[in-house]
Amino acid sequence: MIKKLLLATHNEGKIEELKEMLAPWGVEVLSAQDMELPDVEETGETFAENAAMKAETLAEYTGLPCLADDSGLCVKALGGKPGVYSARYAPDSDARIGKLVAELQSMNAEDWSAYFACVLALKIPGEKVRFFEGKVDGMIIPERRGNKGFGFDPVFVPDGWNKTFAEVEGNEKAAVSHRGKALRCFIEEMFGAK
Ligand code: IMP
Repeated sequence: MIKKLLLATHNEGKIEELKEMLAPWGVEVLSAQDMELPDVEETGETFAENAAMKAETLAEYTGLPCLADDSGLCVKALGGKPGVYSARYAPDSDARIGKLVAELQSMNAEDWSAYFACVLALKIPGEKVRFFEGKVDGMIIPERRGNKGFGFDPVFVPDGWNKTFAEVEGNEKAAVSHRGKALRCFIEEMFGAK
């Protein structure tokens, strides 16, 4: 059983969500931010490729078991974009939301459905990389609602909800989110529980 886990990310939103969900499992969780590690450039074309690249690079660099998250928003009317390029779609979250809504409005899109996808890659030194995946379907809305969460949360309403991810607490988001689902698969494999 692993005692220490390095989260191979500098994204504070992801770090907060992953640390909160891992808190009950008695594993010491550090982030690339905590350890002041360099950012790993994302040059892959899939979530899995990018996640594996981040986990393998930092596991090699530190000798620690590493868990990397690659995730993004796939919008149907945009043919699945920004997808794996979500973080590079515009310089910051505010600009990304503005660009997304403007694109959908300028094409008069009728269908604003989208999904978030997350691939977690686990690299334990000396072992093969393992993957855990999650997805959540929902809808983009034109106006921002809520100030919790991060990234596209203020404009994403998951199916069956009438609130955005930015209007609920972290545990409510994690119960249905792409990252929550992927992390529960990881927890089941690591700790034998959900
Ligand atoms: P990357 O995985 O570092 O390439 O970045 C993923 C990007 O996708 C983030 O910067 C956000 O823009 C978006 N994203 C991924 N997961 C979430 C989420 O849970 N909420 C909102 N935006 C997200």
